[in-house]
Amino acid sequence: MTAVLYDYTRQDARGASTTEQAWAKVPPPLNPAERAELRDRAATLLKERDAVLVAHYYVDGDLQDLALATGGMVADSLEMARFGRDHPARTLVVAGVRFMGETAKILSPAKRVLMPDLEATCSLDLGCPPDAFAAFCDAHPDRQVVVYANTSAAVKARADWMVTSSCALAIVQHLKDQGRKVLWAPDRHLGRWIQEQTGADMLLWQGDCIVHDEFKGLELELLRREHPGALVLVHPESPRSVVAQADVVGSTTQLLEAVVKGSAQTYIVGTDKGLMHRMRQLAPGKTLLEAPTAGVSATCKSCAHCPWMAMNVLQGVVACLETGRGEVLVPEPVRSQALGCIERMLDFVKAHPGSLAAPRSGFVPNVGVA
Ligand code: 13P
Ligand code: SF4
Repeated sequence: MTAVLYDYTRQDARGASTTEQAWAKVPPPLNPAERAELRDRAATLLKERDAVLVAHYYVDGDLQDLALATGGMVADSLEMARFGRDHPARTLVVAGVRFMGETAKILSPAKRVLMPDLEATCSLDLGCPPDAFAAFCDAHPDRQVVVYANTSAAVKARADWMVTSSCALAIVQHLKDQGRKVLWAPDRHLGRWIQEQTGADMLLWQGDCIVHDEFKGLELELLRREHPGALVLVHPESPRSVVAQADVVGSTTQLLEAVVKGSAQTYIVGTDKGLMHRMRQLAPGKTLLEAPTAGVSATCKSCAHCPWMAMNVLQGVVACLETGRGEVLVPEPVRSQALGCIERMLDFVKAHPGSLAAPRSGFVPNVGVA
């Protein structure tokens, strides 16, 4: 076999807490023969090691295809958590970012959870350090603490609820209906959007996603004028001026469903372009356009692709299964403290299956298209 193994020494030496470091760790593309060989090797190892591959929609298309071809799953962060918890395999290989591996481990402590690269992180997680977050919570003891899935286990250990983009709106609405005030972290755009939709009393941490924060409202308006029949699909981590123009606001799964079930021919997609792989497979005749980021004639500041998601490569899948490197460990008592807020979300979603429907419009009441 070709020796295209993942170099874990680079992982230990360099870290990947900046986007530059993350991109530097993404190896050059493989040729077709190397890709086929690694796919076969990974499939054999998954079987031999009683392992299942759980991939996020933003990772490389080869990994998504491998997950589906080997009985695994490609999903949003909520479904990844549920699938990993319920699957009987003794090892979960999580292709995504660190918080996804940690959530899998918190829910399934007896399973071995491996990641192709443990340093694949997320700007929301990085931007919400546990100590500062704990001080924020201490200062507001009267509020229910609701954290987005994109946080560390230590932050979740301080929370009453964890939510993902697919159920955040319904859960905050539920808290509001109970007369509760909310402390929200870390995504400021998602928090603001939920606040506007529900009218809940929310105190917001000011984090953001470096991918979605780059989508531009003005350029989107121009693109919509060029394609008047197009439906605009937006992930709620995007800025207000972008969300306000959306026909559908939702999680990755909800946006995918909108393309598959939608009657329009053309869709403008305001999320990481990794999702286009699955959209093209499930809606082959439809036209997909990327929502604009830096704008016409700007230098390429953003390419609508998460560098930490891009660190997940076939070589990493093979190497973690072969060597056991890249194992996610969540020490006690953090694990058991973080479990409560995740289980509360899963119980809520089970009891309210309708809560997973994507809102059809991002139009902000009393504000209009910002
Ligand atoms: P989803 O929960 O929609 O999959 O989003 C996760 C994420 O990281 C989006 O940037
Ligand atoms: Fe985090 Fe944004 Fe990457 Fe998702 S796309 S993992 S929110 S940095």
